[in-house]
Amino acid sequence: MEKNQGAPPPNSQQVIPHDIPQPKPQKKIGVIGGGYVGGTVAKFYRDGGSDVKVYDKFRPMDELEEVLRQDYIFVAVPTNFNGISIDLSAMDDAMANAAKSKSKAVIIKSTVVAGTTDSYQKQYPHLKIIFNPEFLTESTAYQDFNYPDRQIVGYTDKSFDVAGDIMELLPLAPFNRIVPAKAAEMTKYFGNTWFSVKVTFANQMYDLCDKLGIDYGIVADCVGADRRIGRSHLEVWHGGYRGYGGKCLPKDTRALIKFAEDNGVDLKILKTAEEINKQLTGGVDR
Ligand SMILES: NC(=O)c1ccc[n+]([C@@H]2O[C@H](COP(=O)([O-])OP(=O)(O)OC[C@H]3O[C@@H](n4cnc5c(N)ncnc54)[C@H](O)[C@@H]3O)[C@@H](O)[C@H]2O)c1
Repeated sequence: MEKNQGAPPPNSQQVIPHDIPQPKPQKKIGVIGGGYVGGTVAKFYRDGGSDVKVYDKFRPMDELEEVLRQDYIFVAVPTNFNGISIDLSAMDDAMANAAKSKSKAVIIKSTVVAGTTDSYQKQYPHLKIIFNPEFLTESTAYQDFNYPDRQIVGYTDKSFDVAGDIMELLPLAPFNRIVPAKAAEMTKYFGNTWFSVKVTFANQMYDLCDKLGIDYGIVADCVGADRRIGRSHLEVWHGGYRGYGGKCLPKDTRALIKFAEDNGVDLKILKTAEEINKQLTGGVDR
């Protein structure tokens, strides 16, 4: 009888099913901003046995000094729309705090416009700054974070050498890409603003169906079964109101319109989506 019967042949590849959580090596993780995203990051690494410290400017958590002693620092502070453009004041503060550490890998989870990570990198050359967009939804945050559809690691000229390590630190996804930070930043805005457009488009189709006496629910079901379109963001009474809302879509849509304008590009479709959404929501952010 042959030895090692049943063992895989020497060059066989191990296929890792996506639904089996992969143990991550235990690390020293710091988080700045302990809200939805930061709290989910912290829980993920704590559950995996890592040593996690969280600093939040407005909630009693760990001390900043404890966070700065960790090996990896995630930044997940708000990036709201201030009425004119994206408000980076919390980011500026969080990055200035992160920069008090020695040479650390800093992973930005907050949604920021293209070029922001590169500009912090220029300002803090002793850090290795990565942009890793977060795609979670609040109601299913932990599940989404654990089992992402994709993992995108955005590098700067100073952080390219740690991009692979950061990818390994993050939950495994079926699609993993290491790209320039600007492309990763743009990916996040493309996704969120596409959802804004999709919601307003669905609402217009709803109005037409309504006028014609057609049951929009049936149409949406049939349309959503097309994998190229998908079911998400077709529901017009999502959360009991019409139009897009929530913490991210309105602010990210406005921020991208302004950012594009500043860069000489008129995002007409997004402006129209904003206008239609204003009518649908009565101008009230939900
Ligand atoms: N919530 C989501 O579904 C989601 C999904 C993807 C990306 N994002 C992005 O992630 C970022 C954070 O979002 P969130 O939902 O976790 O926000 P959040 O408001 O739930 O949490 C942010 C936390 O940061 C703290 N904070 C504010 N300023 C700070 C500072 N200067 N230093 C330290 N802590 C500070 C706040 O007290 C708060 O606890 C935003 O850029 C958002 O666009 C959010």
